[in-house]
Amino acid sequence: MYPPIGKYTTGGSGECVMSDVHAAGISDAVLTEEAARFLEEILIEAGMVSSDQSQFGRILVELGSPDGSAARLERLLIRDQGLSARVLRLANSASYGMSRSVTSLQSAITIVGFTSIRTLTMASAMAWDRVPESWSEFSLLHAYAAESVAWQMGVPRPDAFSAGLLADLGRSLLYKVTEGGYELLSDLAEHPDSLPALELSAYGLTHQHVTREAFRRWRFPEPLVAAASSHHDRIDQIHDPLSLAVRVGHDVAAVLQGGNPHLDWAQATDGHFIEAQLEMYEGAIRAQASDLASVFAWSYDWLERSSDGEVARHFAPVRLHLQ
Ligand SMILES: [Fe+2]
Repeated sequence: MYPPIGKYTTGGSGECVMSDVHAAGISDAVLTEEAARFLEEILIEAGMVSSDQSQFGRILVELGSPDGSAARLERLLIRDQGLSARVLRLANSASYGMSRSVTSLQSAITIVGFTSIRTLTMASAMAWDRVPESWSEFSLLHAYAAESVAWQMGVPRPDAFSAGLLADLGRSLLYKVTEGGYELLSDLAEHPDSLPALELSAYGLTHQHVTREAFRRWRFPEPLVAAASSHHDRIDQIHDPLSLAVRVGHDVAAVLQGGNPHLDWAQATDGHFIEAQLEMYEGAIRAQASDLASVFAWSYDWLERSSDGEVARHFAPVRLHLQ
């Protein structure tokens, strides 16, 4: 698959020069036909043609249903070895303090709960075993940082967490379809916020476009779509509190990964989150990100060693490993 060299337009007003990109708000950029075709190819390649055809979509619908059942969820999860292993691993982790090993998927679902499974399901879509480790680390930091900022701002923490965790889904998918070529482009970005302009010049679209379209295929609520897909936009282009929390959380994550802040956090959050609070949250953000990363690292290692069959056949090795 060859990415098109696209032209960035602002809905009929003509081509934009690179310096206009941020001013226009990247999440509002209208794609050329060629870039739109490339976007469709990316989603087809990722198995996200529609939520009905996507395993992730089916699981997320069950998790979001008011009468979702553990038994139905088990039937869906069992078809995904990696996800089943992660749910079992989490149920057996120290955080849940179970005195005996949990070896039944249905028991694990009950112990862990739908919210945590939703997190694991969404994070599984990131294919972190196939992208550079610093990218997965960044997404985890972004999720917990966005959650912390949301807490201070009084906006829903789970939504901020989800949007932060998956904001860079588009990067994983671009990496996959360009067979790693996208990594070379990423390395040219001096700061995460300079990446979208580079993507636009190379592909005619940004990873924010890809994330937004994937979210829509999953039928995520529009506020979540907006929050995830505006995470590089200029702060004065963002008006809803959830998107602001995710945008500031992104800047916080960049700082935690060794970068410099680009935003005035106090101004962006109307004084709810200030730089001094980073000290208070940093330990928890790093620890939680590391815990979730270890669940995934373990499961990728386990999957590599498992050769075939459904996850049920692997309950014994899972149990042995967990003891
Ligand atoms: Fe991003």
